[in-house]
Amino acid sequence: MSEAVLGIIGGSGIYDLPGLTELREERIASPWGEASDALRIGRMGQTKVVFLARHGRGHVLPPSEINYRANIDVMKRAGVTDLVSLSACGSYKSELYPGLFVLVDQFVDRTAKRVSSFFGKGCVAHVSLAHPVGPALQARIAEAATAEDLPFVRNGTLVTMEGPQFSTYAESLTYKSLGYDLIGMTAMPEAKLAREAEITYATVAMVTDFDCWHPEQHSVDVASVVAVLHENAEKARRLVARLAADFPAERELCPAGSHNALDNAIITPAEF
Ligand code: ADE
Repeated sequence: MSEAVLGIIGGSGIYDLPGLTELREERIASPWGEASDALRIGRMGQTKVVFLARHGRGHVLPPSEINYRANIDVMKRAGVTDLVSLSACGSYKSELYPGLFVLVDQFVDRTAKRVSSFFGKGCVAHVSLAHPVGPALQARIAEAATAEDLPFVRNGTLVTMEGPQFSTYAESLTYKSLGYDLIGMTAMPEAKLAREAEITYATVAMVTDFDCWHPEQHSVDVASVVAVLHENAEKARRLVARLAADFPAERELCPAGSHNALDNAIITPAEF
């Protein structure tokens, strides 16, 4: 296999990754358009790390305006094999409280206006997305969180909404009753595109609020999301630093098949 390269996409509140050595910034051209920002490429320990601020520095891109294809494409061109997305999320469970990290393993896509595939007319592909998160990558994140003594739980289903408005009360109750654990605005189509790019993907959901279903908690607003993120950004950075320090030199085979997702996915004949 190839050298393992760890990609980090920082969501709301995480616009930088201190601690990178041999740091350089690179704006990689993509046929899919402009990525959210320049990549910050460096090393943590022996591991090559590539960082991208999902909303751009200064948080200038709303979820619907992010060029998800360009973001994943530049990560791929930078050699990223394993991608960890850090995302602020609302919670549908009392036990998933603000400040907790949830290592998501399933996604539901309720977005409406996003291009969610690299494929289309001329070249048709259907990748498997049954298990969108790489279990080996998720296990490494769990080990890093344990080593850093960070509060986290494994597994959870994250629904992605279009936004930018937060949910109505009726939507919040609906998602909760459907058994979803978390809500955010960006994991989809990121996870789909990472799979098409044969990049192993995992999301660390940083719980910031209880959306608007909770009878004893106020409805989510930006001020409370930002306050929780400020308190937790340092934890996220420690998690990434530990993950990178213990990362393997070579890319690992992904039990969910992300390393060879296209092997049996393209249906258009090569000679067409
Ligand atoms: N990001 C953080 N909290 C959220 C919420 N309640 N809904 C959607 N996205 C969020």
